[in-house]
Amino acid sequence: MRVAIIGLGTVGGGTFNVLKRNARDIAARAGSEIEIVAVASRRPNPACELDSIEFDTDLIRTATRQDVDLVVETLGGTSVAADVVKAALQAGKHVVTANKALIAELGNELFEMATSNKVTLAFEAAVAGGVPVIKSIREGLAANRIKSVAGIINGTGNFILTEMRDKGRAFEDVLKEAQALGYAEADPTFDVEGIDAAHKLTILSSVAFGIPLQFKSAYTEGISAISPFDVKMAEEFGYRIKHLGITRLTGQGVELRVHPTLVPESQLLAKVDGVMNAVMVESDAVGQTLFYGPGAGSEATASSIIADIVDITRAHYQDALSGVPALGYSEEELNEHPILPIEAVNSAYYLRLLAKDTPGVLARVAAILSEHSINIESITQKEWQEHDGAVPMILMTHQVAERNMDHAIDVIQGLDVILAPVVRIRVEYFTAS
Ligand code: HSE
Repeated sequence: MRVAIIGLGTVGGGTFNVLKRNARDIAARAGSEIEIVAVASRRPNPACELDSIEFDTDLIRTATRQDVDLVVETLGGTSVAADVVKAALQAGKHVVTANKALIAELGNELFEMATSNKVTLAFEAAVAGGVPVIKSIREGLAANRIKSVAGIINGTGNFILTEMRDKGRAFEDVLKEAQALGYAEADPTFDVEGIDAAHKLTILSSVAFGIPLQFKSAYTEGISAISPFDVKMAEEFGYRIKHLGITRLTGQGVELRVHPTLVPESQLLAKVDGVMNAVMVESDAVGQTLFYGPGAGSEATASSIIADIVDITRAHYQDALSGVPALGYSEEELNEHPILPIEAVNSAYYLRLLAKDTPGVLARVAAILSEHSINIESITQKEWQEHDGAVPMILMTHQVAERNMDHAIDVIQGLDVILAPVVRIRVEYFTAS
């Protein structure tokens, strides 16, 4: 199998080095030698010793070379990377990518292109880095009706939340460290605003439920507004705040949402710290399964890329189309479940209100919640030195439709005794059903 690597940054460089270092074992597993014949990148990577391997700065020329069978795309983004991948597929090359934005946003078109050119487009590394979660759902859980997938799928965000909780570090300071370690996206707002997680969740949802990729319908909320106070309060109540991607099949459609979430500290997901990723799948036959490991980083992501190269190499000398369909379901068998708007999603809530310290406030808030069919689970009031005459109230609620909560919050916010915007964080219990 003759390979070209396009993009020799953190992930491309890791792929290059692991392919060379473990060449014998990889060839034994693949049933054929995997030879890197060319590398193209905007600039060389000093961590990679090219020896006699050809280096070019022309990405498309390298991706379409006659002597290349498989192209590894590790550029990232949806512009140049899309041109390279399309050119490679049209030239009859298999493509392996770590590019979640590309698959989530353009995947439907690219898979069609791969099928019509009788080649494979593989993307294990696009979700949860080194954790083989796509293969696990698509192949390992093929017997099951999947009910939900919930995951911590952005290492940078999880690293930030963990450091804020454990060490009281400032948001910006932790983000800089994640960038230096090569975990963060080129544009780190993708990490902290949940866009990267929404890309990955879109892919997981399609593989779990056999639906076309629908990134535009994902609901996305980031972690930049999470305050150290809420992190501390959540902990006092026995929860951790995690930035979760959740996709669930309901009778009405598919939930597809990324947002900060309170998770009971007894749940395994609550214990996933630092840059690690974890994806929990709830399915009818096997029940709950959890996939855990490094979700970012050079060689961890290379591990998934090379697993895809091995799969393709095994199938290459047979019939590539006889293999596993890209989304696990045959293209003509894809389902048509609609994606639900966030207003239709049911969730429990943590609410934080900054209220005037005066009689009757609690009664008014409770009345508004009751009028919107919202059942209160607990109420706590905290002393807060910084605000004279104002007091934070924390309410935990039972499950309710988001649209009821939206209306209730609007009314509460209109009260003259409420002194700041209401902070609302969804709560998930993940009790096995
Ligand atoms: N920026 C991503 C993360 C890299 O932090 O998880 C892996 O996709």
